[in-house]
Amino acid sequence: MGEALPREATVAVIGAGAMGTGIAQVAAQAGHAVRLFDTRIGAAQRARDAIGQTLAGLAGKGRIDAAAATAAAARVSPVHALGDCVSAGLVVEAIVEDLETKRNLLRELEVIVPPATILASNTSSLSITALAAGMKSPGRIVGMHFFNPVPLMQLVEVVSGLATDRVVADTVHATAIAWGKLPVHATSTPGFIVNRCARPFYGEALRLLAERAADAATLDAVMREAGGFRMGAFELMDLIGNDVNFAVTRSVWEACFHDPRYAPSVLQQERVAAGYLGRKSGRGFHDYGPDAPRPVAGSEPPRAAPSGIVLHGDPGVASPLADRIAGAGVAVRRQPAHAGFPDGAMSVGEAWLALSDGRTATARAAAAGVRNLVLFDLAFDYASCTRLAVASADGCDPAAFAAAVGTLQAAGIAVSTLDDVAGLAVLRTVAMLANEAADAVTMGIASAADIDVAMRNGVNYPRGPLAWADAIGTGRVREVITHLQAHYGDDRYRLSPLIARRQASAEPLAGDARAPDGKPSAEAAA
Ligand code: NAI
Repeated sequence: MGEALPREATVAVIGAGAMGTGIAQVAAQAGHAVRLFDTRIGAAQRARDAIGQTLAGLAGKGRIDAAAATAAAARVSPVHALGDCVSAGLVVEAIVEDLETKRNLLRELEVIVPPATILASNTSSLSITALAAGMKSPGRIVGMHFFNPVPLMQLVEVVSGLATDRVVADTVHATAIAWGKLPVHATSTPGFIVNRCARPFYGEALRLLAERAADAATLDAVMREAGGFRMGAFELMDLIGNDVNFAVTRSVWEACFHDPRYAPSVLQQERVAAGYLGRKSGRGFHDYGPDAPRPVAGSEPPRAAPSGIVLHGDPGVASPLADRIAGAGVAVRRQPAHAGFPDGAMSVGEAWLALSDGRTATARAAAAGVRNLVLFDLAFDYASCTRLAVASADGCDPAAFAAAVGTLQAAGIAVSTLDDVAGLAVLRTVAMLANEAADAVTMGIASAADIDVAMRNGVNYPRGPLAWADAIGTGRVREVITHLQAHYGDDRYRLSPLIARRQASAEPLAGDARAPDGKPSAEAAA
């Protein structure tokens, strides 16, 4: 743990756009005098005025003290030259995302400010190592990656390049805490933590759409209502902008030498080419025109539930689903596991109903020696989910399928039928998110604890991917990824070594105490 920048130290913010304005506000609210500089004439003054209005608005709503709001606004001074930032103890640059422009700025700054001044970059995609290369003292250059909107988003990724001094990263980390933020340490790597570890959320959704598993509205509803995510991938890509989201995916993919795990989607490329950028252009995966109908998820029509079902073995993570079905008045009789479903399954009349293990229903039905198999998807919480995705094996009898659907509907769950894709939607996405996070731990990009904090607070996931893997069982995640790789024959679905080695131990992934590169994690230090 480092010491935070003293409150008396001046903070300089370079670039008074969306991010710089937010960073200046947060630093001023934490008590620092802030110098704000922008090369665009009048931009720093406009940002200062905007900060004043925001703070006054917050005071008007009683969210902050009126005197504190006035004092914080008064601490922000627009300046007309970089030289006016000479007294700063910390400079945060939030100028245009261009390596050479940022390097030129840092070169100018390092001769103006004292040797102890920390030079932080808010870059979201550039290498901190590359930014620092060739500087007089590269050790003081560090990433301080805020999320948009800065005053509301708690996460800050503190990014260390190869040359960044440990003390500098620790000071920025402690300073972010003093500013009311939740910082995490990351090493300089394409996408840092969040933009790297979130790729499967978009990638799996795009692949499911490309395979025509279901339409975008249905896949979105499944991720929200079963997966517990705030938004489905398609509505989120439309919000971010397909051009921006595609560019981030592409840059991570290119920076990782075309690792198929990050491969962009032709479907999204076509949206960008057509100008279907999302909300901002009125159309993306969904239509946002004034008369556009709201997207409607595909749901099975109401079916009759049987009076009773048989639960074979222990359904593990899906146990609350069986309880819920029983609670809805369907008698649940327990029997030992069927040989084809060692991980538990329900028999509903002629149908088998089981949680996906990453194989298609057709492949699994053949392996289990049954005909009428209906697989259901993972839910964030089976006790409260309002929707589940299902897929049935080729040749499944329609009446048997209807009974399986009716059983879920009896428990108050809307049912969305997907084509028979491997791993369905939530299970496959969560398994791939966990696999990606596990790889980031393996590679020393960040600690397990920091990755889960980053994903919950940077992209609002309902649970950190590693803690989620622990909750559903590392064994199931391993099984799902292994089956996906066998199904697709694609290196994209290669298993993370960290998950592979959990075979021999029940040690949780989220508690992994491996230190990130060069930085002992809190657990390792404890
Ligand atoms: P913006 O375009 O709103 O603001 C950039 C500002 O920098 C402009 O006012 C521009 O006049 C000024 N500027 C450009 N070159 C300059 C120079 N050499 N010296 C001084 N000022 C200069 O951009 P935004 O969105 O605020 O992004 C800024 C940085 O933050 C970029 O590196 C971006 O990648 C990063 N970032 C952006 C996020 C976002 O959601 N917008 C999220 C996280 C990071």
